[in-house]
Amino acid sequence: MNQDATELSATGMDFSLSEEHLMIKDMARDFAKNELLPGVIERDENQKFPKELINRMGELGFFGMMADPQYGGGGLDAISYVLAMEEIAKVDASAAVMMSVNNSLVCWGLQEFGSEAQKEKYLTPLAKGEVIGAFCLSEPEAGSDATSQKTTAVDMGDHYLLNGTKNWITNGSTASTYLVFAQTDASKRTHGINVFIVEKNTPGFSIGPKENKLGIRGSDTHSLMFTDVRVPKENRIGADGFGFTFAMKTLAGGRIGIAAQALGIASGAFERSVAYAKERKTFGKPIADHQSIQFKLADMNTQIEAARLLTLKAAWLKDTHQDYVTASSTAKLFASKVAMDTTIEAVQIHGGYGYVREFHVERMMRDAKITQIYEGTSEIQKIVISRALLK
Ligand code: CAA
Repeated sequence: MNQDATELSATGMDFSLSEEHLMIKDMARDFAKNELLPGVIERDENQKFPKELINRMGELGFFGMMADPQYGGGGLDAISYVLAMEEIAKVDASAAVMMSVNNSLVCWGLQEFGSEAQKEKYLTPLAKGEVIGAFCLSEPEAGSDATSQKTTAVDMGDHYLLNGTKNWITNGSTASTYLVFAQTDASKRTHGINVFIVEKNTPGFSIGPKENKLGIRGSDTHSLMFTDVRVPKENRIGADGFGFTFAMKTLAGGRIGIAAQALGIASGAFERSVAYAKERKTFGKPIADHQSIQFKLADMNTQIEAARLLTLKAAWLKDTHQDYVTASSTAKLFASKVAMDTTIEAVQIHGGYGYVREFHVERMMRDAKITQIYEGTSEIQKIVISRALLK
């Protein structure tokens, strides 16, 4: 046995999933098939996600999977989360993004960096899925360049006064608890940014109209406006100036969730393509008998398998308390490209049927695009990866 192989076996490399992982995957798959699939086309068309369905996802524990059971969470690992996200996103990418933001940005951030009082008051209902959270970093002029926050928070002694606008906020109107980033001292650049917990009905806080989006149309995306919003000092998360680090740390985990969402969109489109290829006949035989289709399926499967391994590896690094920043960016960069490429091929395999709503794959193609944009564009992921390589 050579040195590398010895090392691999000594670290116990194992690609099999535990019984518990398989159970979670099956549970998510059943839920997606039985409760998300009916109505997914209407939700996309009408841009509405029924409250009852959000409540149902909460009851089943999909919104606080990794949060500590002490605060009402599922206490599961990141691998379980990835498995569930893939199954949900296979059917409804809009449901998957609500889940991703609540689990890996809002709940994880509060659990890791919130005070005991913040965890009791805010994390517990969020982890139980009784309410939903939103992560409010992006602004009209601060998307990729997250450091350039224009929203301000002025220290007034026992409270801060928030003023500014946030853009493209997932769960914008559904949420009750908002994590809002603001500049408290622009001269300190990243160290002058803070993050605050803002409750929905706080005076001066208003929600703009719903964005009319290309994809993930079932999820609600809004701009948010803050005009002299009083936020109690105890609602600042962490020490003064911790906000940007909070954003970077939560996004590193969030990107594993988006990689899993992208993986789900790709594998959902792939499963539909295999089924369709066996059914649809041209030139006297199922299109699956044509080599042009067989090769497409082989390529799609290869890409998806690689995306799955990268995503699970990032989750495993997180679960084993190793550095996962580069791995999560790598997984997101790759899986989101696979989602885009695979869904385009899925539409091609479906031909004319692929171009109409009833066959789902056109929606998946529209949904896929956002995974290359939010929680850091593909270009931002390349910055994160290359900086780590060259440091
Ligand atoms: N963990 C801890 N600290 C980190 C970090 C990490 N992963 N990454 C960076 N930092 C620290 C740096 O060490 C640095 O600290 P110092 O100032 O003490 O040196 C500080 O943060 C600033 O880092 P940079 O100098 O690298 O900052 P930058 O201005 O060059 O920007 C960036 C870095 C990676 C481009 C960052 O701005 C970024 O990630 N941008 C993308 C933002 C993003 O992903 N937005 C998504 C919006 S949220 C969303 O989409 C949610 C949704 O609704 C779906």
